[in-house]
Amino acid sequence: MRTDGMLKEDALKGQTIIVTGGGTGLGRAMGTYFLELGANLVITSRKIEVLEKAAKEMEEQTGGKVLPVQCDVREYDQVENVIAKAKEAFGEIHGLLNNAAGNFVSPTERLSHRAVNIVIDIVLKGTTNFTLALGKDWIRAKQPGTILNIVTTYAWTGSGYVVPSACAKAGVLAMTRSLAVEWAKYQIRLNAIAPGPFPTEGAWSRLLPGDLIDKFDPAKLVPVGRVGEHQELANLAAYLMSDYSAYVNGEVVTIDGGEWLMGAGEFSHLEKVPQEMWDMLEASRGKKG
Ligand code: HXC
Ligand code: NAP
Repeated sequence: MRTDGMLKEDALKGQTIIVTGGGTGLGRAMGTYFLELGANLVITSRKIEVLEKAAKEMEEQTGGKVLPVQCDVREYDQVENVIAKAKEAFGEIHGLLNNAAGNFVSPTERLSHRAVNIVIDIVLKGTTNFTLALGKDWIRAKQPGTILNIVTTYAWTGSGYVVPSACAKAGVLAMTRSLAVEWAKYQIRLNAIAPGPFPTEGAWSRLLPGDLIDKFDPAKLVPVGRVGEHQELANLAAYLMSDYSAYVNGEVVTIDGGEWLMGAGEFSHLEKVPQEMWDMLEASRGKKG
């Protein structure tokens, strides 16, 4: 395993990239690497004090420029305000990382309709709001652009207990593939990443609340036997954001150590069969000749 930066130092030089949910967790990790590669960053989410602290620390760490702008991605006028502020500060915008999300685990019948709507609104409406607002702006100005959406592997398998998130991430994936075709003529490229488990405070506190963390160790569900390192995701995101991936369009790249495929394989549970039992089965097969 390697957890150092993978791309050339100038891979994102002079690019301005908006990262939603960029003050915490994976958004912050990907944004920090974009800065290291020469990008200017605009980070946005609901909590301005979190954003301002993160921006300062990210600038100190990388020597890059970070503009924090408060925005609830569900509110279109606030999204337009982020774009205006980003252009005021940096001139052009080149990339968008739709990373903001809301999620929690619950039996679906226990959810109120407000709880369902809130997750769908943050994930699906938030992503379509930013994509539409920035896409229109790029098309009007005849500027190329790159959009990267963070989904999950249950965007295509579905998953119990996270149904609002599954519905919303599936919608984001459908939008990614649809617009990759429709907007290619405007030189706007869209791709997605489906991460497996990458520990963050935000995800772990909501998906493994209470003592669920002791009962369900996420690493045990991953064939390679571990969770992801943030830099592994950042390397992939930077590649998909950079011009090195100019021929990759409408793709979703899974980075999960094989997790979802292990769940999907009908005989994957045979992993639990001990070697001695395989020895016995082999020996009995030999006897029959
Ligand atoms: C059931 C819940 C709930 C829970 C809130 N609600 N938490 N219902 N189980 N754990 C209900 C509330 O009762 C309320 O409904 C409604 O949802 C809105 O709740 P609020 O607290 O008022 O909303 P808000 O403060 O805006 O918070 C939004 C949130 C919160 C989604 C509920 O979790 C949040 O801010 N999350 C942002 C960050 C996040 O979730 N990060 C994790 C992403 S991880 P009523 O009817 O009572 O009004 C991820 C990983 C996927 O996506 C894959 C992993 C492998
Ligand atoms: P996180 O730190 O909780 O990130 C979520 C971010 O979204 C926060 O910064 C939050 O900031 C922001 N956000 C939430 N609601 C918002 C709203 N209405 N408007 C604007 N911003 C909002 O969790 P994470 O693990 O890094 O997740 C990042 C992304 O990775 C998400 O898309 C998630 O679905 C995806 N993902 C994560 C994992 C994992 O294992 N960690 C696996 C698969 C996919 P505020 O609270 O300040 O608004």
